[in-house]
Amino acid sequence: MGMAEGYRVLLSEEALRARVKEMGARIARDYAGRRPVLVGVLKGSFVFMADLVRAIDLPLEVDFIGITSYEGTESTGVVRITQDLARSVEGKDVLLVEDIVDTGLSMRYLLDNLATRHPASVKVCALLEKPSRARVTVPIDYRGFAIEDVFVVGYGLDHDGTGRNLPFVGVPVR
Ligand code: IMP
Ligand code: MG
Repeated sequence: MGMAEGYRVLLSEEALRARVKEMGARIARDYAGRRPVLVGVLKGSFVFMADLVRAIDLPLEVDFIGITSYEGTESTGVVRITQDLARSVEGKDVLLVEDIVDTGLSMRYLLDNLATRHPASVKVCALLEKPSRARVTVPIDYRGFAIEDVFVVGYGLDHDGTGRNLPFVGVPVR
């Protein structure tokens, strides 16, 4: 039995590829003449990040920040940094790269945390957003897809640690 067994495809590999290309082109246009630091939020963003950076035709830097905010499938609102940035972002144009903005609590925490480090600018790029789940408002400058309130797995997103390597975004079917 293959790993894709047991999932309904919500966003196909092709749909993801096309959208990520568009997002990269827009980011390249908006940041022309600058050298942004793309900060991937671990772990969920690592697949999206890998594709996104190759769609941005600009010199850029990559860093990662690890946070944990989740127990099972419900956000607790309690966020903890598990791995900090490798380099200072003071004076830099930071683009936060997230897999999904659900309640918005993680992104709110990250935005507040980053603001204390005095970057030149901070913007948010999220592959997915669940607008119906928002508990706090966070500005999403680049958004891949808005999805319904359903738990999704794949393309970096996990369910209790597995499913990150699925090439599509899918919904577990039980
Ligand atoms: P928030 O703080 O509620 O916005 O949660 C954001 C984080 O929860 C994301 O970065 C994901 O790691 C995780 N998350 C939220 N929804 C899903 C989902 O449908 N599948 C997998 N992870 C999710
Ligand atoms: Mg995440």
